[in-house]
Amino acid sequence: MAKTKTIFVCQECGYESMGWLGKCPACNQWNTFVEEADENSVKANNGKIKDIEPININDISVDNEERYSTNMKELDRVLGGGIVNGSLILVGGDPGIGKSTLLLQVCEGVKYNSKILYISGEESIKQIKIRADRLGIKNSNLLMVSETNFRAIERLIGKEKPALVIIDSIQTMFNDELTSAPGSVSQVREVTSGLMSIAKGSGITIIIVGHVTKEGSLAGPRVLEHMVDTVLYFEGERHLSYRVLRAVKNRFGSTNEIGIFEMRDVGLVEVDNPSAALISGRPENVPGSVVISNVEGTRPMLIEVQALVCPTNFGVPRRMATGVDYNRITLLMAVLEKRVGMQLHNHDAYVNIVGGIKVDEPACDLGIITAIASSFRNMPVGNAAVMIGEVGLTGEVRAVSQIDKRVTEAMRMGFESCIVPAGNMKLIKQMKDIQGINIKAVENVQQVLDILL
Ligand code: TYD
Ligand code: MG
Repeated sequence: MAKTKTIFVCQECGYESMGWLGKCPACNQWNTFVEEADENSVKANNGKIKDIEPININDISVDNEERYSTNMKELDRVLGGGIVNGSLILVGGDPGIGKSTLLLQVCEGVKYNSKILYISGEESIKQIKIRADRLGIKNSNLLMVSETNFRAIERLIGKEKPALVIIDSIQTMFNDELTSAPGSVSQVREVTSGLMSIAKGSGITIIIVGHVTKEGSLAGPRVLEHMVDTVLYFEGERHLSYRVLRAVKNRFGSTNEIGIFEMRDVGLVEVDNPSAALISGRPENVPGSVVISNVEGTRPMLIEVQALVCPTNFGVPRRMATGVDYNRITLLMAVLEKRVGMQLHNHDAYVNIVGGIKVDEPACDLGIITAIASSFRNMPVGNAAVMIGEVGLTGEVRAVSQIDKRVTEAMRMGFESCIVPAGNMKLIKQMKDIQGINIKAVENVQQVLDILL
């Protein structure tokens, strides 16, 4: 009898080698190689080559009614308008962020007359029931299973023929034809490709939960991302209540939309008006607090940024950034030092985006730089202005995209004034219904500080 062939697979990136290696040549990680049965050789020997026929693109028919709503506006928007029939969706995120809660709520939201199968490999059905009761889930078409064996699940799906299957989580599932442990690259890959063929073959939508490792990649890892149709990440600080759902890949929609939820004792609640939620309760006339405008996808959001600048007690000043890129902060502080002449080199600086939100848009620069200057001079900017603009290395304020949306949002939220880049004025003048808001165009950082501080 032929000996079973084994190969060594990097658990980080899936690189395969005939022998054990200490360091992966592909991803440079140490001690990531694990011995696994070589399924590829088994498959190659057993598989027969079949004839395939191409189809003319004009002859392919598609159903119009191929999406359905989850009745959660935030989720539908991120998905590009609802769940597409027969798609494979991955929901990734840190453990405890609320993935299971979100998907349980999806089970309540989708149309009632179709069967849903919720397969949990992490919790017993009793535990899920307790949670479902708390979330007020009453869908009588929802079936619960606590199982981790993929082949049993495959058979169950074939028997029940549900419209939607939820797998919580992919790291607990295993195919007993492989010897490796659940969560290893080969198991995750094998089970996901099995689920993929179920989804494509029978038009069943499958949502997979995937936990994320400390490094930020999916455990059992990136292999998953390219196999599925849609990858959503659920992010947020665990001790803060806001959660952001972000599409990282979407074969059926745009990837720059986000959905915002708040974790409450009744589960995840959609945040329809994030600006109001994020800037409510900000301190009145305090140095270092500024409102900025961030556009994610099609949706503008007003966010508060806070900065604290104080003299350093040590030789090397400390700089800290939460919710915004650290290097961007150092760069903006260098601009203040060189172009405005602020002596920041012997000061510690802390910058924080309130609400646990992350911003990475250059349009936030002007607000951040003003917050730092405001704290340094110990003078408040006032509560009535929204700051919009990118800051260049020579201290110039550069035009930003989607200025109309930003100004309209500031108006809607009742702000008295808006500081905008001079380069955007042409577009703003074309906007029709600007009322009750004072637009101030600025060309450089010095000018902003002259107006405000
Ligand atoms: P969970 O959905 O189990 O996270 P994941 O599946 O991503 O690991 O969420 C668990 C957390 O959510 C837990 O710390 C408690 C909190 N939570 C609430 O605050 N309110 C609720 O109604 C529920 C169900 C959970
Ligand atoms: Mg869970």
